[in-house]
Order: sequence, then structure tokens, then C-alpha cells
Amino acid sequence: MIESKAAKVLRAAGLWQWFCSFDSLGLKATWIDTRLGWSSMTLSSPSSAAPDADQGAALPPPTRPSIAIIGLGRVGMVLGRALHAAGYPLVAVSSRSPAKAQAAAALFQAEAATPIVAAQAADLTLLTISDDAIPGVVAELAVAGAWHAGQSVVHASGVSPAAVLAPAAAYGAAIGGLHPLAAFASPETTLPPGLTFAIEATGTLHAQLWAMARALGGYPFDLDPADKTLYHAAAVIASNYTVTLAALASELFARMGAAPEEALRALVPLMRTTLDNMERQGLPQALTGPLLRGDVSTVQRHLAALDESVPRVGALYRCLAHGTLPLAQQRGLPSDMAGALQDLITLPGEMVVEREV
Ligand SMILES: NC(=O)c1ccc[n+]([C@@H]2O[C@H](COP(=O)([O-])OP(=O)(O)OC[C@H]3O[C@@H](n4cnc5c(N)ncnc54)[C@H](OP(=O)(O)O)[C@@H]3O)[C@@H](O)[C@H]2O)c1
Repeated sequence: MIESKAAKVLRAAGLWQWFCSFDSLGLKATWIDTRLGWSSMTLSSPSSAAPDADQGAALPPPTRPSIAIIGLGRVGMVLGRALHAAGYPLVAVSSRSPAKAQAAAALFQAEAATPIVAAQAADLTLLTISDDAIPGVVAELAVAGAWHAGQSVVHASGVSPAAVLAPAAAYGAAIGGLHPLAAFASPETTLPPGLTFAIEATGTLHAQLWAMARALGGYPFDLDPADKTLYHAAAVIASNYTVTLAALASELFARMGAAPEEALRALVPLMRTTLDNMERQGLPQALTGPLLRGDVSTVQRHLAALDESVPRVGALYRCLAHGTLPLAQQRGLPSDMAGALQDLITLPGEMVVEREV
């Protein structure tokens, strides 16, 4: 199956999904308008004299696949609730804990089942289990005869390629990845709208996962398996290291005598307003602070205080300042100020790689 450049643009714009395939009538373009349903037309035909009876005819909207969820941790429960609320038929749920499976089954109007029965019952099995467990579980299910053609199996890992599901593909199942780009700290979390769902899949499964991401109020995003490590590193930087930054800032608050909860109470609204600014104004407009203002003496005082009391935080401050300076320059920081700040944040003997601004 191939996809034209124009179709990619349309799809990136979130309006269409477009597939081109050869069939008995020639090159056939099929698209799905996520609001209206399926349509198709033949673009060219090897026997072009033959009229295309199908041309322009509207096909019925795609049916939603029935779903089984294996693994009822945070993501399994959050996606399960969201899919159920969005009207997807959840036919089976499976957990190593029978009590957990029963509770989820009651919640989603599904059956509590063993992994093999769950996988056999559904069109699409979501393997929401820990990354390390995926290869073993999918292989065990393959040996048990769970997988067959016409079925799909999808994991929720942001770093593993769909190829880890190869034992299912060997039996004819379509394989894919659907990664909701969010940090779910608890199974009780409600799936927020506006999430990006990174999708690795082809053919019908690709269309189904795109439709699913949209039905969950999100943005589908095609992710090449070769880019998954970078994608996941980006997620770790944006999410996990935000927590690290809050922890380090709290450590400085502790030196002023603040209790941990007092520090967090002070820092979270500050961080939230920064996020709000990013959402509203984008980058680099959301940047505020001494580097943007070219306030050399403030940065100098920061570094002196940090180097004296918490040198490892001083080192991180310098590192992050190197990443911040180009943003300040994009906002018009004059080059003499940028140069002075650059000298200040660069330790003697440290190599600075010039970055394009
Ligand atoms: N948490 C996030 O923020 C997040 C975000 C996006 C994607 N993800 C991805 O979603 C998937 C699940 O993550 P999670 O955060 O939901 O993890 P989790 O809360 O730790 O749940 C993982 C579940 O996997 C099952 N499991 C663990 N080891 C297993 C094994 N050896 N055999 C069979 N099942 C096993 C267990 O389900 P049962 O107890 O029901 O048996 C466990 O509750 C991972 O691929 C993760 O990368 C996570």
C-alpha cells in the first residue's frame, strides 16, 4: 500500500486518511473522512476503457473493532474507560489478578477472561502490559493459538517497535503500536482531551487506530519505528525531567527552610503558568527570565550562589542555560549580551558547539 504526498499532507492536516491500492479495477484511492465515513474512487485503471461502477459511491462508515484489553494497569484502565465511554465494544479484559479483571469487566460491560480467550474474542487486542513483558506474552499467546489472520494486536509502548509483536504477525494478525503521549500516574486518571497518539501501523489497522485516536479526542501522529527512541527521549525530557526540575527547585527551597509541600505549593503554579504560556504563545514566546532580558549580573549571582551551596545544580543550570540562550536570541537578545552570557555559563576549557539560531 502506498500513500501519495498530497494525501500525507491532507492526513497531517487531520482531515483525511488516504490509502492507495491496486485492485482488479486498477489504482484505487480510498479515504476516510473522520467525520463522514468511507469513500473511494478509482484513479486509473489498467483497462481504462472499462467504466468504474464503484466510482464516487459512498461506502458504509467503518465499523469499530471489538476490543480486548490484556493488562489492567494504569494505561489499560485509563484507555479502557475512555474507549468504553467513546462507544467502542469492549468484549473482554484480562489480568493476572482475577479480582482486577472482574472489577474492570463490570465497569466496561466486558467479560473477564484469560489472555487467550480475550485475544480470540476480539477484533483488536490491546496489550497494555509493561514493555519488558510484551515479547514473552505475545509469544506465549502465539504458542497457545491465540493469533490468526483478520485479527489485530496493538501495544501501548512508546519505545518498542510494533515488530516486538512479530509472533502474532507470524500467524497472520495485523500488528501495531498506539502510544498515548501522556503521563498516567494512576489507573483512575481520566484520559484528557487533546492528547497526541503516536501510531505505528499499516492498512486497515492504521485507519482503525487513527479513528480511535480521534474518537478519544486526540491527535493521531504517524511514528516511524526508526524514530521511536528519539520520540521517547523527547517524552522523557518533557515529562520526567519536569519532575526532576521541580525536585531540584524544591531542594533550593528546602535550604530556605521551606517544607516540601510548601515548596511544591509555590512551584506548581509557576510551572503551570509557564505551561499555559507555552500552550497559548508557543516557543520561543513563552520564555521569560534573565537570559531573555540579557540580565548578565543576575545570572552571575545565580551561578555564584549555586556553585557555593549546591554545585551539581550549578552544573545543570549552566547546561540548561546553553539550551535557553538560542531561544533568547530568537526573541532578539542582542549578540553582545548573548556573548557575555555565553562566556558566563561556559566553564574554562569547556567546548561550546555553536548552534544555529
Ligand atoms: N504510564 C504511562 O504514563 C504510560 C503512558 C503511555 C504509554 N504507556 C505504556 O503503556 C504500557 C503499560 O504501562 P502502565 O503504565 O499501564 O504500566 P503498569 O501500570 O505498571 O501496568 C502494567 C500491567 O502489565 C501487566 N504485566 C506486568 N508484568 C506482566 C507480565 N510479566 N506478564 C503479564 N502481564 C504483566 C500487569 O497487568 P495485570 O496486573 O492486570 O496483570 C500490570 O498491571 C507500557 O507499554 C507503557 O510503556 C505508559
